[in-house]
Amino acid sequence: MSVPLLRVADIHTYYGDSYVLQGVSLTLQKGQIAAILGRNGMGKTTLIRSVAGLTPPRAGEITYRDMSLRGKQPYAIAQAGISIVPQGRRIFRSLSVRENLLLPTSVLARSSKGRNGDEPGQRWDFDEVLKEFPQLAERINHLGGSLSGGEQQMLAIGRALMANPELILMDEPSEGLSPRLVLQVQAIMRRLRARGHAILLVEQNLELALSVADEVYVISAGQFVFQGAPAGLANAAQVLDQHLGVSGAKMV
Ligand SMILES: Nc1ncnc2c1ncn2[C@@H]1O[C@H](COP(=O)(O)OP(=O)(O)O)[C@@H](O)[C@H]1O
Ligand SMILES: [Mg+2]
Repeated sequence: MSVPLLRVADIHTYYGDSYVLQGVSLTLQKGQIAAILGRNGMGKTTLIRSVAGLTPPRAGEITYRDMSLRGKQPYAIAQAGISIVPQGRRIFRSLSVRENLLLPTSVLARSSKGRNGDEPGQRWDFDEVLKEFPQLAERINHLGGSLSGGEQQMLAIGRALMANPELILMDEPSEGLSPRLVLQVQAIMRRLRARGHAILLVEQNLELALSVADEVYVISAGQFVFQGAPAGLANAAQVLDQHLGVSGAKMV
């Protein structure tokens, strides 16, 4: 078995005295999607923040490829190949679509040589991102704040891609989107995986998570209470009912 792209080993993450992640472990292989499901306040965003170096764990270990992320600043983690699509998009409302997209490249200034394992033709740049999101190309000079919710989500994903990540952390990308746009997000995630990206996806949309994920985790009060294949969760009526508030009978 090759070294996983991401390995989270028994992490414990706090905000001050507040003990949030209480021993969380997962592994993610290159080109795979892992989905984290769970109710509000259970620690999903804290897991993303732990990996991105924004709220580093106080104990436990996070390894990216063969590099420990311990003590690494968020920008160094981004430079190593991990991009974040934050909850609520967090685009710059008073900057244009173009400026939103170009900002990370100017900040990260990654070397033009690819990282290990990058295959030619797979790198993202401004033109590639606009090809992927034609809606953004049409609105390239519009302000971020004037975009619809769906367009803002595309912009947040496009901005993450501009840093040429190998691993993308997506925090509730479907939040507040219409069913049609949720399908668009689903299609984007599948295309990203087909291009070799790995995704750590946080979702409250169970159907979306089950339809794209290779592995599913359910978090409750800072601990995983389920880990397995999507089909396994679809059949785990007790987990669905107790931790996700979904009646098993509703699942097809
Ligand atoms: N910046 C913070 N300071 C203190 N507590 C926080 C902070 N952010 C989140 N929390 C708390 O940590 C817990 C987990 O939050 P979070 O990871 O955001 O949950 P989720 O993303 O699953 O909704 C919650 O109880 C929340 O109130
Ligand atoms: Mg959250």
